[in-house]
Amino acid sequence: MRIRVTPGGRLQGAVRVDGDKSIAHRWLILASTASSPSRLTGLPSSLDVRSTASCLAELTVKARPALDLWARNASSWVEGGGSTWNDTTAVVSNGTLEVEGEGRAGLVQPGRHLDCGNSGTSMRLLTGLLAPAPFTATLIGDRSLSARPMERVAAPLRRMGATVQTTDGHPPVVVTGGALLGIEHRMEVPSAQVKGALLLAGVGASGETFVVEPATTRDHTERALGALGAPVRREGLRVGIARFQHEGFDVAVPGDPSSAAFVIAGAALTGSQASVEGVGLNPTRLQFLQVLSRMGVETDTSVESEQLGEPVGSIHLASTAALSSTTVRADELPLVIDEIPVLAMLGAHAPGETRFLGASELRVKESDRLTVLVRGIRALGGHAAAEADDLVVAGGGLRGGVASSGGDHRLAMAFAVGSLAADRPSEVEGVEAAAVSFPGFVEVLRSMGAAIEVIG
Ligand code: S3P
Repeated sequence: MRIRVTPGGRLQGAVRVDGDKSIAHRWLILASTASSPSRLTGLPSSLDVRSTASCLAELTVKARPALDLWARNASSWVEGGGSTWNDTTAVVSNGTLEVEGEGRAGLVQPGRHLDCGNSGTSMRLLTGLLAPAPFTATLIGDRSLSARPMERVAAPLRRMGATVQTTDGHPPVVVTGGALLGIEHRMEVPSAQVKGALLLAGVGASGETFVVEPATTRDHTERALGALGAPVRREGLRVGIARFQHEGFDVAVPGDPSSAAFVIAGAALTGSQASVEGVGLNPTRLQFLQVLSRMGVETDTSVESEQLGEPVGSIHLASTAALSSTTVRADELPLVIDEIPVLAMLGAHAPGETRFLGASELRVKESDRLTVLVRGIRALGGHAAAEADDLVVAGGGLRGGVASSGGDHRLAMAFAVGSLAADRPSEVEGVEAAAVSFPGFVEVLRSMGAAIEVIG
């Protein structure tokens, strides 16, 4: 899909965004391996989450029909399931899923390869889930996922006692699970996916499993396990877990703050008033609001409820001063890892140089985001460069141009949002990728007043 973005529109109003992808993966895994039934509402129809659901369908018997139906029909359920649109409120998704888990011991050997599609989170979390299961499973992915590093999760799981083969460090990953013994693992690269995988393996292992992070990463796995009664121990950057079988639960998935970031940034760039409601407000996901504040964009958040240990509420754009540039430190980078593309677009519009220090992880995301982001900013008439592992965005505005997403959902959305404030109309190619995390992205922005046309 190719879009034309004409500057001069607004991003006005209160919206809801699709459910949080990171949380949905974890809660689906936990629901499918609970010892009693669970009910999840607000599940996103994101392609990544559907990959996790279809893999879990292969691994379960009782939960299979519901998971299968969900994975295949999520988008039509979402469209028919209570979408309401008006000038100020767009409910994008209203998915509900009821599954009957039979505990971790109920997992069965899959009859075919587990296809994780584009989703690194699916592959890494499922590798951890399968490590204590007494059978062999093969996890595969699309071209992008097949190039991503898997040893970071395979190596510690081998130390726990699982047999995990990668293909030159990449997918396919073949896991033969078995009896595991807890370990203490110091991660070299801060990664919530690796931490989550080891904690999911740790609940099926003897003894205690500890993960030490070099810097704080999102903590959805430990929050959910803790809320379900698992013996989670947290001491600073060290998280521990021991064997535990949880029961079913009834939850509503909060909106995805990483999707909200595109709405808030777009509103700031167009001088609009916007709020995102029903969104996850986990502090390990909100560091982008601190970065925005340093750039002159002030927001308020208010927590209204809690779901399985996750605070939920709204983010309101309070005021936008003249944008300023900033430096994102290496230690805060893991906490804004998914928001870097959109923060870089704000940097492109601020005077002065915005720097993201130690951003090498961007090279192993859904695309080589460092390269594709630099290329896209230049294509839109701005200036950016990769200096060793730092991303440097020279401000001063975007003149407008034609950028390509490189098949990466967050880059597609970032280029679209950055174009809202360019000097002249721009085009973005490959915007269909947005469905990986934010189905309905173009419709939501248009409903808020953005001038976006689909031209191909
Ligand atoms: C995720 C963690 C992050 C993030 C990804 C989702 C998760 O990856 O980029 O979109 O759900 O755990 P890393 O943990 O590999 O940095």
